[in-house]
Amino acid sequence: MKNSKRAFCFIITSMLTLSFLLLPALAPTGAEAQDPGADVYAKKCKTCHADDGTGATKAGQMLKTPDLNTAEWKKGKSAAEVEKTLREGLGKMKAFEGKMSDGDLKAVSEYVVAKFAK
Ligand code: HEC
Repeated sequence: MKNSKRAFCFIITSMLTLSFLLLPALAPTGAEAQDPGADVYAKKCKTCHADDGTGATKAGQMLKTPDLNTAEWKKGKSAAEVEKTLREGLGKMKAFEGKMSDGDLKAVSEYVVAKFAK
């Protein structure tokens, strides 16, 4: 009886230890690292819009890049609208149609809406 109790404790402890060891390996390592939209943003948008969407970069300030964190911009923006704007271009922002794949355009549009238009 005493032995089986000990064995039971041992099994529980090992299972707990194992799950603590395994959990970090199974958990996603930050959503951004796996988001293809984040990659595209970093490569094609960040120079003007900055990491945080404020447009506070040299190029961004020169072109008067709008802050994508403002309530005004966020209002009802959908990924489809952003994708359309990106395809056609807007003011100083040149059209991205043909400059990147359809998949990248879609991914980056979804990314900016998810990240800034919350
Ligand atoms: C050369 C600098 C530059 C780059 C690169 C750039 N933008 Fe822009 N972006 C601007 C400027 C300037 C505006 C403001 C245009 C206007 O209102 O006349 C703007 C506007 C926007 C807007 C707001 C549009 C709206 O509905 O008012 C979004 C969203 C946006 N950019 C997303 C992106 C994304 C995503 C990328 C990368 C694929 C990108 N931009 C790359 C300069 C840039």
